[in-house]
Amino acid sequence: MFVTGATQTRVTLAAMTSEAKAPTLAAAASAVMAEPDPARKTGAALTLAHDRRTGGLAGIGLPVPVARPKRPARPELRPPREMPRRRNLQTVKARVALLHALAHIEFNAIDLACDMIARFADFALPPAYYDDWCTVAGDEARHFRLLQRRLDHYGAAYGDLPAHDGLWQAATDTAHDLLARLAVVPLVLEARGLDVTPAMATRLRDAGDAESAAVLESIYRDELTHVTAGARWFRHCCDARSLEPRDTWQRLVRQNFKGQLRGPFNDGARAAAGLPQTFYRPLAAASQSRLKDPT
Ligand SMILES: [Fe+2]
Ligand SMILES: [Fe+2]
Repeated sequence: MFVTGATQTRVTLAAMTSEAKAPTLAAAASAVMAEPDPARKTGAALTLAHDRRTGGLAGIGLPVPVARPKRPARPELRPPREMPRRRNLQTVKARVALLHALAHIEFNAIDLACDMIARFADFALPPAYYDDWCTVAGDEARHFRLLQRRLDHYGAAYGDLPAHDGLWQAATDTAHDLLARLAVVPLVLEARGLDVTPAMATRLRDAGDAESAAVLESIYRDELTHVTAGARWFRHCCDARSLEPRDTWQRLVRQNFKGQLRGPFNDGARAAAGLPQTFYRPLAAASQSRLKDPT
């Protein structure tokens, strides 16, 4: 087919315009963070993961730093110290409180995964970095919906109870550096999930809630892949900066994580994810001796 010069110009301009309008991956991830409504935020995160997986959103774009993701009017956010501990899960009230707290963690985890993309968008990072965090964002959205279904089973919903306000703090504390973010969010906070989730699933099963236990076990399997992704990209960034991973991780955790590293640790799962004991055991021992001797 012959195309006249004028037509060819129009075709080329049209292609350029539609290319210019195509959302970048960083912009799409920040749009997920800007969505307060749980149904729409999870929907947007699942779409992000799907689009990336099927070849869309190939253009990374410029970084879009989001100071604070949007939240629904409920749950009411309270300081972490005001949150009750739930050891005995024999009552429906206690199981609902646990499922609600876990749903809140997953809700925040969607934004944390999207922030890995939007804030730290960098052409020097390989495409597999973005593939991984899009997959994580989709997983976290699915986890939230699974927990929401368990709440619904008990006649409850996300937003019914207060939730703690400390989860975005780690993102704020590590907003200045991708390496610090990787050290703290996947390799401290998500790794902690590997330690505590199997016991929570057992307690739910013992309390007669096998369905919620199964949900936690499936979340656990996905979280193992999230910590694995964190460890992979942490080592990648260390290599890129000619840094030794173990000492660098310990230094960044000391500088950027305000809490204490506490066991018991799921050493097997952590090692399988690429986080050996030599990384975290010395820091846990150091924080234990600080607790015993605050001088
Ligand atoms: Fe999750
Ligand atoms: Fe996760």
